[in-house]
Amino acid sequence: MSDTFDRLWAGLAPLGRDRTTGGYRRLSWTPVDAELRAWFTGEAQARGMTVETDRNGNLWAWLGEAGPDAVVTGSHLDSVPNGGGFDGPLGVVSALAAVDELHRRGLRPRRPLAVVVFVEEEGARFGVPRLGSRLLTGAITAERARGLTDADGITLARAMSDAGLDPERMGADPDRLARIGVFVELHIEQGRSLVHHGTPVGVAATVWPHGRWRLDFSGQADHAGTTRIADRNDPMLPFAETVSAVRRAAVEHDAVATVGRVWLTPNTSNSIPSRVRAWLDARAPQESTLRAVVAAVDRAARVSAAEHGVSLSSFQESFFPRVDFPRELCHRLASLVGGDTPAPLLSTGAGHDAAILASAVPATMLFVRNPTGISHAPEERADPADCHAGVAALTEVLADLTGA
Ligand code: GLV
Ligand code: MN
Ligand code: MN
Ligand code: MN
Repeated sequence: MSDTFDRLWAGLAPLGRDRTTGGYRRLSWTPVDAELRAWFTGEAQARGMTVETDRNGNLWAWLGEAGPDAVVTGSHLDSVPNGGGFDGPLGVVSALAAVDELHRRGLRPRRPLAVVVFVEEEGARFGVPRLGSRLLTGAITAERARGLTDADGITLARAMSDAGLDPERMGADPDRLARIGVFVELHIEQGRSLVHHGTPVGVAATVWPHGRWRLDFSGQADHAGTTRIADRNDPMLPFAETVSAVRRAAVEHDAVATVGRVWLTPNTSNSIPSRVRAWLDARAPQESTLRAVVAAVDRAARVSAAEHGVSLSSFQESFFPRVDFPRELCHRLASLVGGDTPAPLLSTGAGHDAAILASAVPATMLFVRNPTGISHAPEERADPADCHAGVAALTEVLADLTGA
């Protein structure tokens, strides 16, 4: 089992890796994404699986007949800019390795089995995370998705049609959804709970509510050397004060909140900026707490913008409610994976396709230990032995759920 995993991993590892930083840049519907899709298609076909692309660009590899009541596993292959190699790909590689392990053990699934690769999970190119699973379930409309743009102003519709897909077919896909009996996504843990538990594999029970908000501070561009301080409408100042307010609000409410993305216009050192566009990512165990954090940030930003003669517009770009995966399914997986000592049930502030699918089908996740907890960075990693334990756990789960 470890051989197949290691071989698959070695085949995937060079794609989209920056040789200098060791980080990955795997943005959807780019040339490297085409290579990733070709890699997955080749590996799945080599296992006798039938690969199809759904109307939203997600890839499905079927072992035997496609649905109904299928057991589906998989994850995503896209990354954040300069991200790690495990967030997403670990679930895809483990799924293919688990299919091999079922074969090796001579087990025959009695339910259809599929491995899925969801597109644009990170939202790193078009801004809305879990876009492929949101489209599948109808959590975002095709109209809105088609019009999403990347940093160069290229629409999703254009990027998909350049990749040979018909964007007019995009949208909710109830027939495909109806084929899914259960979905289990394996993922690297993005935190250190499993380190504290001292065990390589856990089961995700809860995904925190989370969302992204955009803040546009608009002032007056002017000369850095000739404009008196008193005459300025500098949007950088309320922006900077807002970043501090974000941290204060997160600490006060026991939440997490981040400003990780900023666009400056014109972004040059000898001009006062005319505009600062910033994104707030906020997450908390309960939605009421999350709303309180966002309201506190918005209040602070408005007060500060007014003080500096700057205008502010803000809106919610995406939102995702709390998900509690089905208890019975989580306990079943925890027993399968842990044996006498059931695997720990974990909660996470990270978003996942499984949490989107959970609104429509029974779904849950397996997490694999991350020794440092670091994720969305080149240092993200899991030990080989833990990756192999993840494949073994997923194999047990797939064998059980498919009645193999
Ligand atoms: C993506 O990984 C997210 O949790 O935002
Ligand atoms: Mn991620
Ligand atoms: Mn992920
Ligand atoms: Mn995530």
